[in-house]
Amino acid sequence: MTADIDIDGARLLGRLDQFAEIGATARGGVNRQALTGLDREARSLLAGLAAARGFGVFQDPVANLFIRRSGKDDRAPPLLIGSHLDSQPAGGRFDGALGTLSAFEVLESLEDAGIETERPIEVVAWTNEEGCRFAPGCMGSSAFSAGVIPAAWLELVSTDGAMFGDELKATLEALPQATMRDLGMPVHAYLEVHIEQGPSLEKEDIPIGIVTGIQGTRWLQVEVSGQTAHAGTTALSYRRDPLRAMISALDTLYSTVMPQDESARFTVGRIDVEPGAINAIPELARCTIDIRHPDSLEIDRLNATIEQCFHERAKAQRCEVLFKRSFDMSPANFPEKLLGVLERAADVAGLATKRMVSGAFHDALFVNRIAPSAMIFVPCRDGLSHNEAEYTAPEHVVSGARLLLRSTIGLANG
Ligand code: GLV
Ligand code: MN
Ligand code: MN
Repeated sequence: MTADIDIDGARLLGRLDQFAEIGATARGGVNRQALTGLDREARSLLAGLAAARGFGVFQDPVANLFIRRSGKDDRAPPLLIGSHLDSQPAGGRFDGALGTLSAFEVLESLEDAGIETERPIEVVAWTNEEGCRFAPGCMGSSAFSAGVIPAAWLELVSTDGAMFGDELKATLEALPQATMRDLGMPVHAYLEVHIEQGPSLEKEDIPIGIVTGIQGTRWLQVEVSGQTAHAGTTALSYRRDPLRAMISALDTLYSTVMPQDESARFTVGRIDVEPGAINAIPELARCTIDIRHPDSLEIDRLNATIEQCFHERAKAQRCEVLFKRSFDMSPANFPEKLLGVLERAADVAGLATKRMVSGAFHDALFVNRIAPSAMIFVPCRDGLSHNEAEYTAPEHVVSGARLLLRSTIGLANG
């Protein structure tokens, strides 16, 4: 009876276009950062579409948004499917939206076909996956799986000067029609579709990646302090220049960390100085560092190397250096049983698959701490993501959602 059911590919592609208009950038991407007015607009659009189909709409205290389709046994823990709606500042239209809207398409397809499942199914849009406006990333899924919102988050200040506590409150209030529920709940399993964000599926011409696990990530906020002084009158021997110390440390780290270890990732995405005057030596130089590695011991080792290098270079300029860790996510593996479910469903759908480790972090890693979780990757043109040019071809969008539908039916009845 369920063998013939399929997703409505044209509807899903239309929805992706519709959501890409919210925060659309001139270069074809999106800037819809977490907990902004635009993020609220996207959440409202999804909540409105859900209400129009008669699905339940809920949110929790960290503004995770849930769309619920009841099951025959409505007290059973739901199968959760989804991703996020927030984006990078110069982000693509697929990162996050693809998984959220594919999940919503699954609910609509089940509804269209009048198929009842044993368990309820809930679509989730997690809050602040990206972590670029407020760090850390994956706030919604990590608070959900821990059952608590860390008190320190409420005091966080965004890159545009807003307080997390205020933005969270405004986001929750912007959706009065959503029923409020407690943070965290029993979950049967969690599935997330996502663009690969790397080149391997496209290169090997394979439509589906079955994600076996996610490498570790650590974010450091580095602050080097020196002394601001006159650009024209301060001789070299009098200077305590934190920017010079920072640049010297970064130059060494760029030419050692990744060249010496193919699995390591070292990225500086943000640098700023204070007071930021053209004719004054800076008082402060700040940067962010994003470290990734599949082995958590290597992340510790890289962290120590980075700190030592900064301390040496700061000392040479008679500066001080401070490190703050704003995100720390150990690598994790998804359960074999769920990988098998996805592979069998792909087989039935005639979709070739390849097992792979995710280089990007995802909400699924945090949900996996409380319920079996897994991810479906689809190809990404030129491996380009966190870029406005990010693109997944329509046939791959459809294949990912189709596999999600088939896996969802299996898991929601199991
Ligand atoms: C997710 O957006 C990541 O940076 O891996
Ligand atoms: Mn994402
Ligand atoms: Mn992302």
